Amino acid sequence: MEEELLEEILASYRGDRGELVPILQEVQDNLGYLPEKSMVDIAKFIGVPESHVYSVASFYAQFRLLPLGRKRIAVCRGTACHIRGAPQILNRIEKTIGLKEGETSDDLEYTLETVACFGCCALAPCIRVNMDVVGEMTSEKVDELFPPVIEGVKNDQ
Ligand code: FES
Repeated sequence: MEEELLEEILASYRGDRGELVPILQEVQDNLGYLPEKSMVDIAKFIGVPESHVYSVASFYAQFRLLPLGRKRIAVCRGTACHIRGAPQILNRIEKTIGLKEGETSDDLEYTLETVACFGCCALAPCIRVNMDVVGEMTSEKVDELFPPVIEGVKNDQ
């Protein structure tokens, strides 16, 4: 399936070196990340060493080399959310799901990120789970949304 999709994407390019970044962007937009096999195929398609594709993909922060979790949690680190307790919410989520910011769980259930303001400051502190914004976050809401994976964490205030 990934290979078919890559073929479809590459069919709309000529195979020039200069197309590397747009190709990587399109692959990531469709797959959510850049699989190693896709980078090898892209290198062949544009006629550059695999190491070149890898170095470009790892240079730009926009590219992900690993898949995202099914639940992508983004904690707002904007000023309004920060003042109203976002650091504590982030800490609580980290403890509850056993991940640090920027990490994805081995079972691909969760990815935890922080982002700048979502534009929902009146509801601060906010998080987003996939496309859904959850405002006025509290520790209790964290526990409701994310069943803890570590015994005893729920009562560890
Ligand atoms: S500061 Fe968090 S939504 Fe604006």
